[in-house]
Amino acid sequence: MHAASSPDIRLVPVHVAIVMDGNGRWAEERKRPRLFGHKAGVDSVRTVVETAREIGVRHLTLYAFSTENWRRPAFEVKGLMTLLKAYLQSELTTMLKNDIHLLCIGQQDRLPADVRKTLDMVMAKTAHCSSMTLNLALSYGSRSEIVRAVRQLAGKCAGGELAVRDLNEELVASHLYTAGQPDPDLFIRTGGERRLSNFLLWQLSYAELYFTDIKWPEFGREQFLEAIAVYGTRQRRFGKTGAQLRQG
Ligand code: IPE
Ligand code: IPE
Ligand code: MG
Repeated sequence: MHAASSPDIRLVPVHVAIVMDGNGRWAEERKRPRLFGHKAGVDSVRTVVETAREIGVRHLTLYAFSTENWRRPAFEVKGLMTLLKAYLQSELTTMLKNDIHLLCIGQQDRLPADVRKTLDMVMAKTAHCSSMTLNLALSYGSRSEIVRAVRQLAGKCAGGELAVRDLNEELVASHLYTAGQPDPDLFIRTGGERRLSNFLLWQLSYAELYFTDIKWPEFGREQFLEAIAVYGTRQRRFGKTGAQLRQG
């Protein structure tokens, strides 16, 4: 085993996707309101974004709010939206300094107007940044993303712009929110659950999966680097045999 502060990073994934889970339980364990956990979670977001950028991750996708999360109590949803807006406002300078391009994946039209306005502003101001793309998944659900793509493609077929026989994987991928970005190499879920929760079902086809019981507010630099180090030990065969890979 390596010292936790300096794990052996053999390979940096190009795209990391994270389900940031466990904020509520972290707070409840401390007899504090759930929003206290979400607040603490924002610090983890800052640390992980900074660390990812530092080690050369090119795309980072963070699941911040799912289509299913609208079912939570209105008070919690409101608190999350307030935190999100404050995060975006406070992080703009750092994003510019670190050359990070912010994108939003998900149903932006369902977000409160003031959050949308702040998001649009930060996305526009960081549009020229190119060292890392930070995708915030907001009101994101993979099935609704796929349905949206199917609708667009069906519309093009019906309008004669596209022939049914020309439909292929690239075309589907290019109609998802993540169009133009590579698929995640590494998927991380904190908080102990072993599920995808409607996150990037298409894009995660060949991602390496990493689950940890650590709750999101306690997931910092060391824990992120550990996940990256574990990724480097995985053999990605993409259907081939181990022997084929050794032969190059
Ligand atoms: C993840 O933490 C953050 C969001 C879903 C917004 P949770 O709020 O799901 O935390 P737990 O799972 O209840 O601990
Ligand atoms: C998934 O977490 C969504 C986010 C982290 C934003 P949840 O905590 O909402 O997932 P489920 O509902 O327990 O699967
Ligand atoms: Mg949860």
